[in-house]
Amino acid sequence: MQSGTSAAATVAYNVSHQVLVLTNTPESSTALQTLKSLSERSGKSITKSVTAVKAVPANADSLFQVSGPLAQGQLVSAITQSKSLVQSIPQLYSIARQPHAFVLHVSAESRSFPDTYGDFSDIMAVRQTGFSLLSSSNVQEAQDLSIIAQAAAVKSRSPFLHFHDATRISQELNSISAVDTKTLNHLITQKDIADYQESISGARMSEEDQTDSSAEQVYLRYKSKPAATSQDIFAALSQTFTQFAEVTGRQYRALTYAGSPDATTVFVTMGAGAQVVASAVEAINKTDEFKALGALHVTVYRPWSDAEILAALPVSVTKVVVLEPTDEAGLTGSFNPLFLDIVGAIQAGGIARQHVDVASGRYGVGRLGVDFGLSEMNRIVRYVHGAQKIDRQFVILNAGADTAEVLRDRFAGQVLTVEEEDLASQDLYAENGTKQVIVVGEQSAQDAEKVAHKVVNGVKASKAQIYAIKPEASVAEAHVRLLSEDAVALPSFIIGADALVVGNPALLRHTDVQRLKSGGKVITASKSLEQSLSGDVKALLFKKAAQVILSEDAVKAFNGQHGEKFDIPASWSSASGTSSVATNGHSDFVKAAPAPVVESPYLRLLVQTFDKRLNIANGVNAESIWAPDTTSKDAASPEFGYGKLLAQAQRRQHFIKQVKRLLNDDKVSIPADLHKALSQWVVSVQPDASLSAQKQEALVSEILDLLAKYEPSHKELSDIYAQGDLLPSKSNWLIGSDTWAYDLGSSGVHHVITSGENVNMLIIDTATYSTPVQREQRKKDIGLYAMNYSSVYVASVAIYSSYTGVLHAMMEADAYNGPSIILAYLPQAGEGANPIEALKETKAAVDAGTWPLYRWNPTLELENKDPFILDSERIKRDLEEFLAKENHLSQLAAQQPDLSTVLVSSLESEALKRHEELKKNARDSYAKLLAGLSGNATGPPLTVLFGSDNGNAEGLAKKVAAKAKGRGLKVTLMAMDDFGDIQELANVSNLAIICCTAGQGEFPSNGREFWKALSSLNNGEIQLAETKFAIFGLGDSHYWPRPEDAGYYNKPGKQLDAKLESLGASRLTDLGLGDDQDADGFETGFNVWQPELWKALGVADAGGVDDEPPKFNDDLHKLNSNFLRGTIVEDLADESTGAVNEGNGKLLKFHGTYGQDDRDLREERRKMGLEKAYSFMIRVRVPGGVATPQQWLGLDELADKYTNGHLKLTTRQAFQFHGVLKKNLKTTIRGINQTLLSTLAACGDVNRNIMVNPNPHLSKIHAEVQAFAEKMMNHLAPKTSAYHEIWLDQKPVAGNAVQDFEPLYGPTYLPRKFKIVVAVPPNNDVDVFAHDLGYIAIVENEKLVGYNVTVGGGMGMTHNNKKTYPRPADVLGFCTPEQAVDVAEKVMTTQRDFGDRTNRKHARLKYTIDDRGLDWFKSEVESRLGYKLEEPRPYEFTDNADRYGWTKGVDDKWHFGMYIENGKVKDWPDMPCKTGLRELAKWHKGDFRLTPNQHLIIANVPEEDLEKTKEHLAKYNMDNLNFTGLRLNAMACVALPTCGLAMAESERYLPILVSKLENIIEQTGLRDDAITIRMTGCPNGCARPYLGEIAFVGKAPNTYNVYLGGGHRGERLNKLYKESLQEEDILKELEPIIKRYALERHEGEFFGDFVIRAGYVKKTITGKDFHDL
Ligand SMILES: Cc1cc2nc3c(=O)[nH]c(=O)nc-3n(C[C@H](O)[C@H](O)[C@H](O)COP(=O)(O)O)c2cc1C
Ligand code: SF4
Repeated sequence: MQSGTSAAATVAYNVSHQVLVLTNTPESSTALQTLKSLSERSGKSITKSVTAVKAVPANADSLFQVSGPLAQGQLVSAITQSKSLVQSIPQLYSIARQPHAFVLHVSAESRSFPDTYGDFSDIMAVRQTGFSLLSSSNVQEAQDLSIIAQAAAVKSRSPFLHFHDATRISQELNSISAVDTKTLNHLITQKDIADYQESISGARMSEEDQTDSSAEQVYLRYKSKPAATSQDIFAALSQTFTQFAEVTGRQYRALTYAGSPDATTVFVTMGAGAQVVASAVEAINKTDEFKALGALHVTVYRPWSDAEILAALPVSVTKVVVLEPTDEAGLTGSFNPLFLDIVGAIQAGGIARQHVDVASGRYGVGRLGVDFGLSEMNRIVRYVHGAQKIDRQFVILNAGADTAEVLRDRFAGQVLTVEEEDLASQDLYAENGTKQVIVVGEQSAQDAEKVAHKVVNGVKASKAQIYAIKPEASVAEAHVRLLSEDAVALPSFIIGADALVVGNPALLRHTDVQRLKSGGKVITASKSLEQSLSGDVKALLFKKAAQVILSEDAVKAFNGQHGEKFDIPASWSSASGTSSVATNGHSDFVKAAPAPVVESPYLRLLVQTFDKRLNIANGVNAESIWAPDTTSKDAASPEFGYGKLLAQAQRRQHFIKQVKRLLNDDKVSIPADLHKALSQWVVSVQPDASLSAQKQEALVSEILDLLAKYEPSHKELSDIYAQGDLLPSKSNWLIGSDTWAYDLGSSGVHHVITSGENVNMLIIDTATYSTPVQREQRKKDIGLYAMNYSSVYVASVAIYSSYTGVLHAMMEADAYNGPSIILAYLPQAGEGANPIEALKETKAAVDAGTWPLYRWNPTLELENKDPFILDSERIKRDLEEFLAKENHLSQLAAQQPDLSTVLVSSLESEALKRHEELKKNARDSYAKLLAGLSGNATGPPLTVLFGSDNGNAEGLAKKVAAKAKGRGLKVTLMAMDDFGDIQELANVSNLAIICCTAGQGEFPSNGREFWKALSSLNNGEIQLAETKFAIFGLGDSHYWPRPEDAGYYNKPGKQLDAKLESLGASRLTDLGLGDDQDADGFETGFNVWQPELWKALGVADAGGVDDEPPKFNDDLHKLNSNFLRGTIVEDLADESTGAVNEGNGKLLKFHGTYGQDDRDLREERRKMGLEKAYSFMIRVRVPGGVATPQQWLGLDELADKYTNGHLKLTTRQAFQFHGVLKKNLKTTIRGINQTLLSTLAACGDVNRNIMVNPNPHLSKIHAEVQAFAEKMMNHLAPKTSAYHEIWLDQKPVAGNAVQDFEPLYGPTYLPRKFKIVVAVPPNNDVDVFAHDLGYIAIVENEKLVGYNVTVGGGMGMTHNNKKTYPRPADVLGFCTPEQAVDVAEKVMTTQRDFGDRTNRKHARLKYTIDDRGLDWFKSEVESRLGYKLEEPRPYEFTDNADRYGWTKGVDDKWHFGMYIENGKVKDWPDMPCKTGLRELAKWHKGDFRLTPNQHLIIANVPEEDLEKTKEHLAKYNMDNLNFTGLRLNAMACVALPTCGLAMAESERYLPILVSKLENIIEQTGLRDDAITIRMTGCPNGCARPYLGEIAFVGKAPNTYNVYLGGGHRGERLNKLYKESLQEEDILKELEPIIKRYALERHEGEFFGDFVIRAGYVKKTITGKDFHDL
């Protein structure tokens, strides 16, 4: 057997003086081996000399080597690959100018996909060089044409190039008839050689001496005349063909026609594909379906003769289809050369051939079209015959190339894919008796080939064919055909194999079994099939009824002489699971583990924004922009996408022209309406057109409708109609990761930036996910890079910081007519990523300026505006420099005067430097302060350091400092981390450290650096001999209750004490420990430790013991505030800080606002030496939660202007704004008042917002109850005019002469907050028992007759402080509606007068009642009322949940209960409810009602607006109620990052936890069961956690106490079930309980009741037994 290469090499050896091999490829090594063994064996060629064999590296100069020997008259051959041809073009031209018999054998390979047919592009590139080109189409021809080429070269004295497909011929092994030397000698005689050599020397001589006119010289000159005209070559060839046929019986022709003599369709091919075409045509012509097919096989491609072509084509032909193998890369290019040649020939045929259509088809197109066989031809034939007029270009892809879409977008012509029915055509081939075997599961192509050889040798057949394949996946295979006498060896892959010989069964793929014919054999030596085979392979083997034979001897087994039959078990029929090796054809990739789909939030937004217009051009087949694109390696790259977009653009331009032509064509009658619409469309697609995307969309759908209508009767429209997808203007995007930022200058990104084309790029930067430090350094700032090319739109956005910013940028980028780049930040992304972390990291990056938010819009420049818009506050240094250079910085600074102060460097070192400076300043000013403080201090110095998170330790430290000062000590006081160089400790003689415990035995945030520095010191590294110290630690011995966590108790204090001792410092006192569990909390321990300190310092008896400032007293503060004025006005005017002082902070609460700081940013800002990110929360009182559309619009606008952009609906039916900066506080509060809402008394020690059941069903009752609530609210409102003065600029009443006064509250207001609610049974959504005062409406005969009054409810408590507890309210009695306001006043004033004003933790009404008894309280209230309350009336609650969905009220108005997770009204990616509700408020005629569980009712929709409202809700996805019962009944408080009391996440985390619980719920079939879940970030209880059936109360980061057993109707408190659980344990604990509940619950039993019955927790009766476990 020979391969194409060995055959060519053998001939070359046998007919040449010299053979050159251009090395470094498999073919050349085969060639070299062949040549070597030939030289070893025979040694001599027909030239009678020993053939010289030379291996030379393939490069541009390789062919230089041949000119010398050629000039000597030697016969020279060379063997090379097509890829080295192009570089040799100059050489080839030069060789072709000489009359030399040079033959070049070229194996034509595909550039990227080795298993495909050869790619002839490189061969075509040299077709003009003057070489004659011969193409062989199988191994036999490779040998024969090598001989013919050599003979013709000698005869015509011109060079030949002989080419063949690489994998399919060069490497294929085939039984061929070898040509012996004798025959060679006959074909190329000694005389031929002598004549040739003579002519060469004649030419040489004539060059040397043209003047010599001797007869001999004249003769020689005559002989040496350049031979090679086309005619000469054709003549030499035809002479050789004839001679060759005479001696071998194999007739070759320049063109071979086969098939029907009356063919109407003729396929023209060269190369291996020609075998397929000829066989297919022959087979298909035998069928009834198609008869008139012909195949024209081109063997001599150059010289070319139009006349020959025309002569070869039957006169009957109407369609000529030129089939050429072309690599994918060439697809966007123009037509193929052979096609053009054929077209030229047909044209040359003039009128006779005018009716002939010529089409260009491509096969072997990369990965999608690796194979070209009978099925592919069958499909082509059906296509060509099916269509009246076929596309000028088409491409054929293999079966199952379901990703053909990629090509469809890229390729201007038809994309054909082999279909099921085409596959049957393979049987035609199998019928001829050929046996086909595939060897699979071998490690290497060589191994596969070895097994194949065994089969060939063992199975008798007259001819055989083997080709071994080494695909990109690890599985190699060999295809073996054992050919019957008259069969042709096909280059296509085997389909319908008789047997699979399987090496390693684990490598057997589904596609391999697909190639086995039904009932075929599977032969393997492996006995572990059950384990090794994948499920899908087993199932297919079963389906195909394969005969599995276990045998070591594949040949005997194949012949049926050996092996044990393995019975396929029935269980395989339903086996499933795929093998680890992917199954998409020969170029299989081993599938990479799926990368997380990190970009999804941005992708979702793109899809939402552009919907059908969205066109993502690259990476469409990958699971993620970070995952390899399994369809095409390059498809994810910007180059690929850009190329695709350009091709699409070209196609569209072409289409536009086509439409224009049609419109202008008088001969075509287009209906007027369509004509008009199309004309409008043509205008709308002009580059400067201004039709909005929406309008264009409408126009396009109109056109499509019209086309659909008219197309059947107007055939000329069908082409346009068929291309309807080109009508809409697309929003074109390339999506990539930050890896695109490397090597920017040479990348596709650069290409796009500089192209000026209207292409949008979204580049997602997952800093933490994909950028280790070194890569970060290589990464270029694409934004800066692009802005330097000023005509590029650039935006830097972050979805977790500003959703609307992203939206704006996407829309602007789309609108911008040029390249746009959006850089999008997405840290911590991916499936398992934690969105809270992503949020925090985004915030930190934006806040620090490392990820600035900005937009650079060149269109603004045209309007004479600055193109740079900064959307965040900070920018990093390089951006700053760019802006400064470009002069944008000053413009920006002019717009935003405070900008210069926020321009900071993101460089760590800069930040640290700055921090150091700040620390130094802080120390200096402390020093100055203390110099003043202790100006005449005579005592010893004392340095007091504190570490404190929430102020306890800091308070104690201040106390110690003040007392020390009083005792005459020189005091220095500061936070531990503000202490400079740790070595300075050596200079401190007396050191007191007061440090609390955070986290799990960790240092508090302002003590960590100090500890880091101290703990890293080793003995001897610091001299502390002179330092004396005293440590007081604060902690809580029960904070972490598990015995194994005991080590966390007061750990920092203990560590400090031990470390200082070990470093050689000496103790002033023993370590003191404060424990929250002690009778007086940490004071107990402190009172023991403090005197010891004074003793040790020798100042125990010094004076000033009582010089401590008076204990801060809230009442005193209120008293001194002049009715809540304090110095708020002055404080607001102080621009040096974003915060207000502590006293004013407390007063501001009464005004409905308090200061917060963004805790996510604390650490980052502290590192940078910046003050906390202060802002204000503003709460808006909305009695009963009812707001008009106008109010909604007003609040919505304020939210956009002054807040973090969200509206928060609270658990108490109020609105909350977060993130209001101090400077905007007043404007915002004024704005709220303009909507006729107020913030007064929304917080503070007063009656707050009154909640009312928003019951829209009983609207009459609701109206009455609502009116009552409003009346009560007004009655109980503070009367101070301070609010109006401060916020609304009203002048003090009668100047300052008249003192304000508070008739109800008095100057000290209430001891604590006071909360009132009104419930309307059967719904207890307001949680009537959780509030100080409650009213349960009693409705009798549909009339409100009065209220049951409840008192003493409250949620707040402190962890581990049993003196604090939640308490359900008691029912006090019944009152009439007329009495109700009065009752409220009397209850509230009783609490005003008897509430505990000494301890805020004990100041709520619940404690007053428990301390004094309900009876006492009732009589006190009744005596104030002057009448007795009636006995409570019966009532029944069913639940405390919200009602969702549409309901109709009694007055024909409709109400929609809408779900808003945790009450956050913002534009969520999947529910842009902020925009949706704003748009609704513009026309909604009813009102909006905030529900007590943080959702919203769109109430009072009139019947006529119902449909419109429904559509509107659907448009914004606001009608989605498809949630589990769990989610619909889950509620969380705000907590982190804004709430200062939060110990753990709540609002941000609950949705995540619920998702995890949902898994359990779904498994147990409880999807729709309502279980109330409540979560809060601290025990304060804002989301009423102690009434939840399940509750989580934050204890520390990621750690919660879990409570169970609350009443489903909100009537019973729950009970602590487990303390301090983290997520994993929460799920572990709850799963079995929920599962048991699903199985064991009684009919109608609620979860809260079940857990008590099942004994998980004890039932809680009232507040006092809450802590009894
Ligand atoms: C989130 C958190 C975690 C705590 N972890 C511990 C601990 O691990 N060990 C301990 O003894 N005390 C712990 N405590 C208790 C505090 O140290 C104690 O309440 C102290 O008085 C707080 O002081 P500060 O107000 O100065 O921050 C923790 C407190 C909180 C809020
Ligand atoms: S419950 Fe605690 S953490 Fe949650 S909002 Fe209220 S005070 Fe903040």
